[in-house]
Amino acid sequence: MQDWRDFIQDVIIPEHRLQERIAELGKEISEDYADKEILVVCILRGGVMFMCDLLKHITVPVNVEFMAVSSYGSGARQSTGNVRITLDLNTNIRGRHILIVEDIIDSGYTLASVVELLETRDPASLFICTMLDKFERREVDVPIRYVGFPIENQFVFGYGLDIDEYYRNLPFIGTVDLAKYVPKH
Ligand code: IMP
Ligand code: MG
Repeated sequence: MQDWRDFIQDVIIPEHRLQERIAELGKEISEDYADKEILVVCILRGGVMFMCDLLKHITVPVNVEFMAVSSYGSGARQSTGNVRITLDLNTNIRGRHILIVEDIIDSGYTLASVVELLETRDPASLFICTMLDKFERREVDVPIRYVGFPIENQFVFGYGLDIDEYYRNLPFIGTVDLAKYVPKH
C-alpha cells in the first residue's frame, strides 16, 4: 500500500474542523428530533467513522442499523447508477424516523435508490445526513437534511472515504494528486 503522504494534495478538512462540525450537527439533529426516537441507518462502509462520532453528540433515543450498497463497477471512480443492496436492514422501519448517515453524496444515484427502497416500507420520516456534499455533481434529487461540508468536485479520501478500499482510517479528509497515486492494478 502506498503511503498517503506520497500522493496527498491538500488536507481540505483537518480533524479538529471535522469534529467541531460533527458536534454542531449532533446538536442540531437532537433539537430537530427533540420528542422523537431516531433510527440511524449507516451506509457501509464509508459512513462508519462519521456515524460513530456523530452518535456521541445525539442526545435523543437512537437505534442503529446498517446497510451496504455497491454502486461502482470495480476500480471505477464514478457512480454508474447500477446500485445493488448487498446488506439490508435487520429491522422493520414502519412508522419510524429514519436518518440515513452517509460519507459523501456525489451523483446521488446511490442514495436515491436506498431512499426509494426504504420509502416502500412506510417509515414515519426519512432524511439524510451526509458528511460531504459534492453538490455540483448531483444528477438525481435526494432529501438531504444535514450536510457537514459542501465540497468542490474533486476526489477525496480519509475519515471513512477510501481509495481502492484503503485509507478509511485517517482522521482528516484530503484530496488526491492523481498523477502521484499509483493504482495497484
Ligand atoms: P453517488 O452514487 O454518485 O452519489 O456516489 C456515492 C458514493 O460514491 C459514496 O458513498 C462513496 O462511496 C463514493 N464516492 C463518491 N465520491 C467519492 C470520493 O471523492 N472519494 C471516495 N469515495 C467517493
Ligand atoms: Mg466508496
